[in-house]
Amino acid sequence: MGKFTNKVVVVTGGASGIGLAIGRRFLQEGAKIGLLDMDGEAVAARCRELSASGGDVFGRRCDVSSEVQCNEAAQAMVAHFGGVDVLVNNAGITQRAAFVDTEVSVFERVMAVNFFGALYCTKALIDSIVERQGQVIVIESIAGVAPLLGRTGYCASKHAMHGLFTSLRTELRATGTHVMIACPGFIKTNLQSRALGADGRVTTHPQSVIGRPGTAEEAAEAIVQGALKRKHMVVLTVAGKLGYWISRLAPALYERIIERKFRAELDR
Ligand code: NAI
Repeated sequence: MGKFTNKVVVVTGGASGIGLAIGRRFLQEGAKIGLLDMDGEAVAARCRELSASGGDVFGRRCDVSSEVQCNEAAQAMVAHFGGVDVLVNNAGITQRAAFVDTEVSVFERVMAVNFFGALYCTKALIDSIVERQGQVIVIESIAGVAPLLGRTGYCASKHAMHGLFTSLRTELRATGTHVMIACPGFIKTNLQSRALGADGRVTTHPQSVIGRPGTAEEAAEAIVQGALKRKHMVVLTVAGKLGYWISRLAPALYERIIERKFRAELDR
């Protein structure tokens, strides 16, 4: 019996990319999976697929930027499974445009999904997770702990998540409940093709990438291994790890590197 056998794992943004891969990987550990995603058709289709291969999977449409929908979805998960052991705050969106061009509404939308979405889902499920001495897993980014030009709104939302969840870890420690932060480098998913531009519409502006992007499956493997060991933080991809350490040890050098690598992002 594995550590996650019959544990209930709820993944937000679970209908595609890293979230779906995390759901699949936890299923292999014997967990029961709850998938939440704003794309209702995709979440229903993924539930059918995963259930067909023998998994105990329950899905629900939920826009995490709505507190009401998060509360309803959390109640539905608890009613269906009897409680929740692990919440993976994964749902997220990004933006790409220079700060000077970007409308304030874009910052608000990115904060609403990435930061408040994670906050609402965690608030709605925390009693059940604490009762089961479970875990909250937070999918941040290297942009949660280091700067990233051309994505000031995204970077701000991920830094806000970092502050909230590292602090929450210290509040919950005495209860036996754990919080793990995951910081992926670039991963091949649909995230960037849905990035918001300066005016809030999906942008076609070319994207800069550092290093070979990882796959969602590689990310999920590292995240589940980290959860098994109750690590405080996992940093993913070779370029991500390198960036993380340069940003810690030589922040001014890190700023110069990203200024050079990401300069094209500021082109109009
Ligand atoms: P993705 O776009 O493939 O998946 C995101 C999922 O979240 C989608 O299924 C989407 O429908 C869902 N979603 C978006 N807004 C939502 C909302 N308001 N409510 C509920 N669901 C919503 O992207 P990916 O890459 O799998 O992203 C997952 C997480 O990983 C995000 O938090 C992202 O910031 C983070 N991340 C991704 C990196 C990458 O290079 N792909 C790098 C670092 C972090």
